[in-house]
Amino acid sequence: MSAPRRPDAHWRERARELGERIPAGFRVGVATAAFQIEGATHEGGRGESDWDVFTHQPGRILGGSNADVATDHYHRLGEDVRLMADLGVDSYRFSLAWPRIQPGGRGGGNHDGIAFYDRLIDELLAAGIRPMATLFHWDTPIELRGGWLSRDTAHRFADYAFLAAEAFGDRVESWVTINEPATVTLNGYALGVHAPGHTLLFDSLPAAHHQLLGHGLAVGALRDAGVVGRIGITNVHSPVEPAADGEEDGAFAALFDVIHNRVFADPVLLGRYPEAPEPFRELFGVFDEVDPDDLAVISAPLDFYGLNYYFPSRVAAGAGDADSPDGEAEAMRSLPFHLEPWPEFDRTGFGWPIAPDYLGVALGEMRDRYGDRLPPVVITEGGVSFPDAVAEGARPEDPVDDRARIEYLGDHIAAALDAVAPGGRAEGVDLQGYHVWSLLDNFEWAAGYTQRFGIVHVDFDTRDRAPKRSYGWLREVLGSRN
Ligand code: NOJ
Repeated sequence: MSAPRRPDAHWRERARELGERIPAGFRVGVATAAFQIEGATHEGGRGESDWDVFTHQPGRILGGSNADVATDHYHRLGEDVRLMADLGVDSYRFSLAWPRIQPGGRGGGNHDGIAFYDRLIDELLAAGIRPMATLFHWDTPIELRGGWLSRDTAHRFADYAFLAAEAFGDRVESWVTINEPATVTLNGYALGVHAPGHTLLFDSLPAAHHQLLGHGLAVGALRDAGVVGRIGITNVHSPVEPAADGEEDGAFAALFDVIHNRVFADPVLLGRYPEAPEPFRELFGVFDEVDPDDLAVISAPLDFYGLNYYFPSRVAAGAGDADSPDGEAEAMRSLPFHLEPWPEFDRTGFGWPIAPDYLGVALGEMRDRYGDRLPPVVITEGGVSFPDAVAEGARPEDPVDDRARIEYLGDHIAAALDAVAPGGRAEGVDLQGYHVWSLLDNFEWAAGYTQRFGIVHVDFDTRDRAPKRSYGWLREVLGSRN
C-alpha cells in the first residue's frame, strides 16, 4: 500500500498546518509495550510470562518467531530515549513487565527489574518527556495458575501495582492499569490466537471480569500508595456497524458492540455490565452473578480514560470463512457471525480498513454513552502497519519512505481534533492527547515480526534503528506548534 507520491513541500505544509492546530496542553507521544520491544527475557532476574511460553509453542506465531530478543530495547534504552528526545514528543507510553518487577507474580520486587525502569523514567524526565506507565500489557507471570480465569490474579495484580507505585509513584506522570482487556479476553481466552491460547468462546467472560476487578483493585492500590500521577485504563474501541440493513446483521452487530466495547467500558464508567441484546442474554449470564461490591471497585473514579483506536468493525450474520478479516482465528469460525471487509476503505498491512472518521465516531459514542461519567480522554494508541520495504539504494540512515503512514497519522490526529471541536461529532469530550503506535517496529504478537508499526525502522537481524520519513514528519508537526 503506498500513498500517492507528493512533493516534499506538500508534506511539510501538512505538518505545519497540523502542528499549528494542535491545542496547547494536548500531548503528543509515542507508545510501546515491554514484551514487544525489550527482549532480554532471561536477564536481570526476569521471571517467565504466559507469552514466553506461548511464543515457544510450535505454530502459534507467524514465521515461528519469538520475543526473546525483540528490538533489544533492554540493552538500547539510552538510544531509544535519545530518539524520542530528538523527535520532541511530550509523552512516552511504555509498559512495565510484571515478570521483571515481580517474578512469579508474588512477593517482593526484583531489584534489577526495578532498576531498569528507574533508569528509563529518569532518562525520560531528564529529556523533558512525561512517563506514562502501563502496568499490564499482556505478559502475565506464568506461575499465576489459570491466568485471568482465576479471581486470585486480580488480587495479585493489585499487590504488583502497589510495588510499582512504591518504586515509581513519585515520578510517573500517568498510570494505565490494564491495556485492552477486550483483546486479552477475546484473543487470549475466547479465540486462542494470543497467550494463553484458550478457545473458550463465551466461557472466557470470567477473564474479562477478573481483569476489570484487577483494574479497580490496582486503582485503589495506586491511590493508597499516594502516587503523584494520574490514573486511567486503556480500552480499545471499534465502532460497529451491521454489514447489511435488516434485523439479523443488526442483532449480531449489537452483540459484537457489547462483547468488544461495552463489556469493558460500561462497568468502568457506569458501574454495571451492559444488557446484551435479547436473543443473546443467556450467553452473558455470568455477569448476573457478579457481586455489586466488585462493580463498586471496578467503577472507582479515574483521572483519564485511555482509548485505543485502530479501525471500525462491520458485522454480518453467519459463520465466517478463512478469507474474512477475522479468518485467521479458527475458533471465530464456530460463531454465528463474522467480520466483513469494508469495500470503501483502503487497507493497512494487516488488512485493517483505514477509516479516520470512525475515530470521531468512537469519541462521539463515548460522549453519547457515558456523558458526564467520561473523564478526560487520552488516545493511548493509534497507528498503522505497512510493509515498509527498504528501498533499493536508500540511504541507511533514511531507509523507509512511508508516506502512507504520514497520511494515516495526519488524518487520524486531524479527525480526532475535528471531532471534539465545536459542532464536531464528539464536541464536549475533553481530549488531551494522542500516542502513536509505535516508536519502533516491534514484535506484533501472533504476527511476529511481519507487521511493522514503527516510525523508526528496526532491522531485525542487527536491531539497528533508522528513523522513517514519518518520524521526520512528526518532528516537523511537533516543532510547528504555537
Ligand atoms: C494494540 C495493542 O495494545 C498493541 O500491543 C498492538 O501492537 C497494537 N494494537 C497493534 O496491533
